[in-house]
Amino acid sequence: MKNRRIKLAPSILSADFSRLGEQVAEVTKAGADYIHVDVMDGHFVPNITIGAPVVASLHSWTALPLDVHLMIERPEAHISQFAEAGANIITVHVEAATHLHRLVEAIKGLGVKAGVALNPATPLSSLDEVLPLLDLILVMTVNPGFGGQAFIGSMMDKIARLRRILDGRQAKVELEVDGGITAGIAPKVAEAGAEVLVAGAAIFGSKQSAGKALQEMRRALGLVS
Ligand code: DX5
Ligand code: ZN
Repeated sequence: MKNRRIKLAPSILSADFSRLGEQVAEVTKAGADYIHVDVMDGHFVPNITIGAPVVASLHSWTALPLDVHLMIERPEAHISQFAEAGANIITVHVEAATHLHRLVEAIKGLGVKAGVALNPATPLSSLDEVLPLLDLILVMTVNPGFGGQAFIGSMMDKIARLRRILDGRQAKVELEVDGGITAGIAPKVAEAGAEVLVAGAAIFGSKQSAGKALQEMRRALGLVS
């Protein structure tokens, strides 16, 4: 893992929304690094989830960076709302962007870190021209739209290839993975070169409390003894 500091980003998609604030506070206390917020519009993906007001409300419960993953069509029409709501990272899908370069510049112009997500079928080469502008690349390890799906095994090689590209270019871009991450898979994706691990069902859908599940994942990664 080459001394890379692994970060954990619990996804609130699988949280109990009737007590969202408490659940976010719980994973914050248990050592989360980011809070991952999945925004779905019922068009780019089949489900509808939450919007900017929910992002704004999370600040009363955590001081952690809010990592907002937009699974929406026409992201350019909504990024300013999420920036105003206090998103620290805004990630858009390359498949939803007609003018990706302009969109990334616009996110950065709002004073927010810019991420780009790739669906499992989208090649790494689609980011070649914008890579120097990015703060984060999100490799989807499931097809987006639902929590609790199984990790697509062939994505392990995609993560490793992206790691080689980033290291080769000495790029300061965080490599985030999202989908099907469990305490069992987490060390393997970290070994392949991921540094930010999103986990929804494994944290908030676990039989144990979200805080305990997060600590178990941190232990599996060797972050605590
Ligand atoms: C899926 C979302 C994920 C989701 C991950 O479309 O982008 O962030 O919450 O959930 P798990 O960890 O349950 O696969
Ligand atoms: Zn996500």
